[in-house]
Amino acid sequence: NKMDLVGYDKQVFDRIRRDIRALMSEFEYEEVTILPVSATNGDNVTEPSKTMYWYQGRPLLSVLERSNAGRESHAETDIFTMSVQRVCRPDHTFRGFQGQISTGSVGIGDTLMVLPGMQQAGVSDIYVTDKKSDTAQAGEPVTICLDREIDVSRGNVLLCIEKAKKQDDTQNTEAVQASEEQKADKGNDAQAEAMARSGIAVTDTFDVTLLWMDENPLVCGRNYHLQIASTLVPVTVTRVHYAIDVNTGEHVQQDGAVCNDLVYCRLHAGSPIAAALFERNRDLGGFIMVDRVSHATSACGTLQKLLAQGSNIFWQELDISRDMRENALGQKAKTIWFTGLSGSGKSTVANLLEKKLHAKGMHTMLLDGDNIRMGLCKDLGFSDSDRVENIRRIAEVAHLMNDAGLIVLCSFISPMSRDRNNARTIMGDDFVEVFVDTPLEECEKRDVKGLYKKARAGKITNFTGISSPFEAPESPEVHLKTPDQSPEECADAILKFLGLS
Ligand code: ADX
Repeated sequence: NKMDLVGYDKQVFDRIRRDIRALMSEFEYEEVTILPVSATNGDNVTEPSKTMYWYQGRPLLSVLERSNAGRESHAETDIFTMSVQRVCRPDHTFRGFQGQISTGSVGIGDTLMVLPGMQQAGVSDIYVTDKKSDTAQAGEPVTICLDREIDVSRGNVLLCIEKAKKQDDTQNTEAVQASEEQKADKGNDAQAEAMARSGIAVTDTFDVTLLWMDENPLVCGRNYHLQIASTLVPVTVTRVHYAIDVNTGEHVQQDGAVCNDLVYCRLHAGSPIAAALFERNRDLGGFIMVDRVSHATSACGTLQKLLAQGSNIFWQELDISRDMRENALGQKAKTIWFTGLSGSGKSTVANLLEKKLHAKGMHTMLLDGDNIRMGLCKDLGFSDSDRVENIRRIAEVAHLMNDAGLIVLCSFISPMSRDRNNARTIMGDDFVEVFVDTPLEECEKRDVKGLYKKARAGKITNFTGISSPFEAPESPEVHLKTPDQSPEECADAILKFLGLS
């Protein structure tokens, strides 16, 4: 486009065409048409350009009309798949599942399987918009009714595992007396075959290519929402494999992403979902990522690899429950999470509070930033992604200690609100956030460890408050203002909140 700005010069066009062709070898496009256009003047848009007489090809409109975009049909994906957008239940007599058919066609009598649950049912009715129909095709908006009550909700995927038998086939089948075992085997085979043919798998781990579109950088370990078709699940970026330089196609090593970066990375979802590679199924292979705090769309991308990680791990039920452990200790487990700048007084107050709890006969444990960084987290530094991982590990450990019945005190700067929220998600109602609110000037004046001085001199990078941000909690359970309250008063305020004073 904008050929008018280069005087409709054929040499410029030839050079650009060469560059594009060279770049295209990196991608797997089946067909690429390159044509010169000037939209302002309409050259080569609907009519061939007179000014660019040297170009003999079709104008843009004609190229678009003849292109095969969106119409390609892969024999393998012709199997019926649809993501359920809405469960329609106007009254107790009607229950239909609505969505737009992604691939294949569906007919009355077909046997469908619901993913990820894997239950089966037959199709009893089909409506295309509001008209009854015997069949429906890819691209059509439909309501599908099933012949038995099974669990189907928004985001589930319907997949055809057996087409309805024609009249003649039915008679033939009836003649064969299949054993129950044979029937079950046939059911499992049909399920496996349908999954393989559709390219759909139920998994919680994927390698993806994504375009990061958020002003806030992508940080490994942080939680987002993943939306694939109508499914919404929490997801964590566990690893950035590499970034792709859009000008050269080169792979660049980096461990996060900033706005407009194209990266190849691994995602781990909170629960297994039905998904497919983008090349097999556009609806189930494309996604967006949504920020859990701002609800902004942070990224869009495509699934490149489905990994089966996690699907062979099962939660083991134990006979001794947390309740029983709490009863044995005669207390309710909690995590008291202190957040605040370095030198704000977190450790002093936590230490004093633990002594007071101990004196009351309570069973406690104190986890402190500097100490934990000498053991469990000694491999971590102070980059954003390392801090995310630091807080995640502490939260998991505190959660385990809560399961053991202990009252856990955690003293960590934990500067980012979304990471503290993640800790809260891990612990649920047992999480008590205590904001040790001491102004930066006061912390810097105290400078117990001499770190502020070093940070000001540029000898420590990413120092919270100086060269790395601290996000104050918006609504902590307990808000302490240390220059106005003594450590004693602070500890008592927490005891009061806990109902233990
Ligand atoms: S957090 O940000 O990941 O929560 P954490 O509480 O574990 O930090 O560790 C903070 C302690 O590490 C501080 O009290 C300080 O002694 C030390 N420290 C060393 N470098 C830094 C830094 N760049 N930023 C903050 N604290 C640092």
